[in-house]
Amino acid sequence: MSESAPLYGKPRKVQIIPSVLPADFGKLGADCKKMEDAGCDRIQFDVMDGNFVPNLTFGPDTIRWCRQYTKLPFETQLMVSERCTDAMLDTFTEVSKGPNGEPGVVIVHVEACTHLHRNLTKIRAAGGSPSVALNPHTPAEMIENVLDLVDHVLVMTVNPGFGGQKYIPTMTDKVRKIRKWIVDRNLDVDIEVDGGIKATKETIGECARAGANCFIAGSGLFAFDDMSEGVKKLTAMALEGQGVAP
Ligand code: DX5
Repeated sequence: MSESAPLYGKPRKVQIIPSVLPADFGKLGADCKKMEDAGCDRIQFDVMDGNFVPNLTFGPDTIRWCRQYTKLPFETQLMVSERCTDAMLDTFTEVSKGPNGEPGVVIVHVEACTHLHRNLTKIRAAGGSPSVALNPHTPAEMIENVLDLVDHVLVMTVNPGFGGQKYIPTMTDKVRKIRKWIVDRNLDVDIEVDGGIKATKETIGECARAGANCFIAGSGLFAFDDMSEGVKKLTAMALEGQGVAP
């Protein structure tokens, strides 16, 4: 396999973000505390409505309760229909906030937003950190005109709905394309990747080299008995991909 192009632009801070999907939903609060103790940067809540994706998880109250157990920043990924996105955006923005009301990351899917520009503006106005996600089939161009409104772009590297799936390698070039736009326009925007991310050169390493700096890991992190070990390994592989000596 030919060597891929090195990172374009200055490396951004590597952040390791566990997805709660593999956690024990019977004691989610305690598992959130475990993620905090392991040195994770923030926690991703995968909200699924059985409509936008073929799986069903939880609503805003679960996130609201988890806030009692950890001080970590939250990130809420809304894998829900347009009807749910429009009806509940303010509620999800509220429950995603930090312990002192700091903005929480709220991710809407471009595929579930007829009025994406309006939704992202609404999240910022409600005190959230607006972000947008793209499913694997969705061209990067769909978010080109809202890069000035977001703090993160989430490139899905699996078809959303379930953990433990295989990384889709064709997504690496999508990351690279978005990264070039961000750097050339001098925007302060992180790129996140989510799905099949493991402590390997082929996944987190290639994504970091392409320009991602936020890594959502579910099974790839929960596979470690000592989660802090997983955080260290994932971080080291990401720094290597960025070409930054650990
Ligand atoms: C979509 C979920 C992902 C998933 C990642 O399926 O939003 O965050 O849990 O899980 P892994 O890391 O196991 O692919």
